Amino acid sequence: MKALILVGGFGTRLRPLTLSVPKPLVDFANKPMILHQIEALKEVGVTEVILAINYQPEVMLNFLKDFESKLDIKITCSQETEPLGTAGPLALARDKLIDSSGEPFFVLNSDVINEYPFAELIQFHKAHGGDATIMVTKVDEPSKYGVVVMEEETGRVDRFVEKPKIFVGNKINAGIYLLNPSVLDRIELKPTSIEKEVFPKIAADQKLYAMVLPGFWMDIGQPRDYITGLRLYLDSLRKKSPYKLAAGRHIVGNVLVHESAVIGEGCLIGPDVAIGPGCIVESGVRLSRCTVMRGVRIKKHACISGSIIGWHSTVGQWARVENMTILGEDVHVCDEIYSNGGVVLPHKEIKSSILKPEIVM
Ligand code: GDD
Ligand code: MG
Repeated sequence: MKALILVGGFGTRLRPLTLSVPKPLVDFANKPMILHQIEALKEVGVTEVILAINYQPEVMLNFLKDFESKLDIKITCSQETEPLGTAGPLALARDKLIDSSGEPFFVLNSDVINEYPFAELIQFHKAHGGDATIMVTKVDEPSKYGVVVMEEETGRVDRFVEKPKIFVGNKINAGIYLLNPSVLDRIELKPTSIEKEVFPKIAADQKLYAMVLPGFWMDIGQPRDYITGLRLYLDSLRKKSPYKLAAGRHIVGNVLVHESAVIGEGCLIGPDVAIGPGCIVESGVRLSRCTVMRGVRIKKHACISGSIIGWHSTVGQWARVENMTILGEDVHVCDEIYSNGGVVLPHKEIKSSILKPEIVM
C-alpha cells in the first residue's frame, strides 16, 4: 500500500520553531512529527510514502534519507509549483498513487497526532464497500475543523461541512483518509480543497464513510494544542508502553527523557514533559508541561512550565520561563530572567525579562 502526506503550508502558527525546519520536522515527544506517522504506516505494510510538498523538498528529503533505510520504506516527494490545496496534490501524484493492485491508499494531514489505528481503518474501509473512509473524532469546538454528519450504525456520511459557521455536529474530520483509486477521477490538477470540493460530492453519492477514531487526537499545529497534544500522547504511552516513560523520585506523572539526556541532582520533573537527546538539565531544576528539544541546557534552579524550548537553547540559572513561552532554535535566556509567554525568534539572547506575552525579534 501507499500513503500520501500533505506537507504543504508554511506552519506560521508554529513559529518560531518552523523558522528552523518545516512543520513536519518539528520534534514532538522527541521525534519529528512526521516520523510518528511514517512509522505507523510502515507497521500496516505501507511500502511508499509520498510527501506532497510545496517548498524546501531538499530539507525534508535530506532529513528523511536516514530513515528510509532504517525503516525500510520508500520516501519520495511530489512537488507543486503552486500550492494545490488539499486535493490538487493527489491529482499531481496520481501516477505514484495508482498501481496495478488497485489497493486503496492513505492520505494524511501532517499535523495530527493520535494512535494511528490504521489496521482498524483498513478493516472498516474494506467492509463498507464505499469509495472513501475518513476518520472522525469528537471535539468541543468543532467550528475550526471539518464537521461530519453521519449515520451512526453504518458510518455513512450524510454531510461534510468545512469550518461551519453554525453548529452542525461535534464529530470532526481527523485528517486521516483511506481512498480508493476511483476517488482520483473526481480530482482535477488545479488548486482544490478535498474538504470543500471533493468530500461533499462523494457524500452526496453515498460513497463516503466515517469511522470514529479510537483513542486521543490532536491537531498540534499551534503551541497551545501542541502542549495539550503532548499530555494526551504521554497518557496514551502510559497505557500502552509504560516502560518508555521515566521513573524515579524526581519524576511526577508522565515524563519522557531521551536516554542521552543528563539530569542533575534534586530536580523535580513532570507532569507532561519531554526532554530530547543530548539535553543537560542541571541540579534543582523544575520542569512541568513542557518540551525541551535536542541539545538544550537548563541551568541550576531554573523553572519552566507550559512552554517549548527549541533546539540547542540555554535557560540560565534561577530563570523562570512560563505561560506558552516558545524559544526558537539557539536562544539564550540569561540568568534570573522571567519570561511570561515570550515568543523568541532563533539565535536571540534574552537579557531582560519579558513581562507579558509578546514576540521578541
Ligand atoms: N501539499 C500541500 N499543498 N499541502 C497543503 C496545502 C497545499 O497547498 N495546503 C494545506 N496543506 C496541508 C497542510 O500542511 C496540512 O498538513 C493539511 O494540508 C491540512 O491543512 P491545515 O492548514 O492544517 O488545515 P486545517 O488544520 O485548518 O484543517 C484541516 O485539518 C483539520 C484537522 O486538523 C481540514 O482537513 C479539516 O477538515 C480537519 O478537521
Ligand atoms: Mg491543521
